[in-house]
Amino acid sequence: MDLFEYQARDLFDKHGVPVLDGVVATTPEEARAAAERLGGGTVVVKAQVKTGGRGKAGGVKLAHSPQEAAERASEILGMAIKGHTVHRVMVAAGASIAAEYYVSLLLDRAERRYLAMASVEGGVEIEKLAVERPEALARVAVDPTVGIDAAKADEIVAAAGFGTDVAPQVADVLQRLWTVYREEDATLVEVNPLVSTADGRVIALDGKVTLDDNAGFRHPDHAGLADTAATDPLEAKAKEHDLNYVKLDGSVGIIGNGAGLVMSTLDVVALAGEAHGGVKPANFLDIGGGASAEVMAAGLDVILGDPQVKAVFVNVFGGITACDAVATGIVSALEMLGDAATKPLVVRLDGNNVAEGRAILRAANHPLVTLAETMDGGADRAAELAHASA
Ligand SMILES: Nc1ncnc2c1ncn2[C@@H]1O[C@H](COP(=O)(O)OP(=O)(O)OP(=O)(O)O)[C@@H](O)[C@H]1O
Ligand SMILES: [Mg+2]
Repeated sequence: MDLFEYQARDLFDKHGVPVLDGVVATTPEEARAAAERLGGGTVVVKAQVKTGGRGKAGGVKLAHSPQEAAERASEILGMAIKGHTVHRVMVAAGASIAAEYYVSLLLDRAERRYLAMASVEGGVEIEKLAVERPEALARVAVDPTVGIDAAKADEIVAAAGFGTDVAPQVADVLQRLWTVYREEDATLVEVNPLVSTADGRVIALDGKVTLDDNAGFRHPDHAGLADTAATDPLEAKAKEHDLNYVKLDGSVGIIGNGAGLVMSTLDVVALAGEAHGGVKPANFLDIGGGASAEVMAAGLDVILGDPQVKAVFVNVFGGITACDAVATGIVSALEMLGDAATKPLVVRLDGNNVAEGRAILRAANHPLVTLAETMDGGADRAAELAHASA
């Protein structure tokens, strides 16, 4: 999970990384009040979106009074930065910047360790720097069993060439960022810019943090950081049922068991769709190995809830859960859903007990269900039905 800058700022603060005061606002009036709370002087109004390049896009602006803060907020709120609509800004105390640096800590999967990066030339051009003058960006391997202790921090500071005036403070910040990284189970902690101020302090002015969702069980407090407003409601519903669901843009709903089968079903449907007005898959939904009636009902419920879906292709290979159990699942799912099930369903079964499975579906004789003999045939029929009712 990627965090918003203001959430990263709070985590930094919790672990003693020096940051400036910041207040979140969702309206220009709140931004004015925030600027007043920060003393009424110079503030920076910053778009809170989970993407980079906010400054260049006009999402980071100085304001010299609460009135100006409200004006800048009204410009920034509602703007789109790389497709992300700005719903909140952070009004941050203004720093008087002497120099901008860059530091980050990340997981180096290939090397099975962590990597620290640092540069004395931080700021909004860091991506360009990394490409054009990679030597200006120090890269120091971090042993996961040791982390960033005082010696490692000094090594990073020396590799990046920080001046002696700021070196001790930067080394201290690096050790505290390591604490954030380890204690919060992050996979990325990036500060750009880390600045030194006119009065000689070193402060993190911007933070990007990615938390490892697999460690979520260790951090009940992290659940509150999730951006529930941005989650697709169908994806949220699928998650409640532990279904592996991804919404796509087309009109043919897809249910399969096993990620590999679902992936190839997507391909086959996309190909079949070319002959039927270019219809495309509407989603990825893997109901997993044990496709019980409840799981099938939950899956169908999610897919039928997508208004873009015009037809559904159920493509199941009976393995541990045999085809007759899957067929029973489909029949009772349709019963459970009752009038909520309105879209045609093409079902292709193969594998264990396929004959019994087909017999169950034939006996149920549900008006919405069509049986397909093959995967290609089923994909074609589902694409045709989706096109016909588009
Ligand atoms: N609190 C602040 N006081 C003074 N200047 C600031 C402050 N916050 C940011 N800035 C200035 O604005 C620039 C851009 O800010 P920031 O790093 O937060 O956004 P960005 O880098 O453009 O966005 P992103 O990190 O999303 O790419 C900084 O490099 C810094 O010069
Ligand atoms: Mg930045």
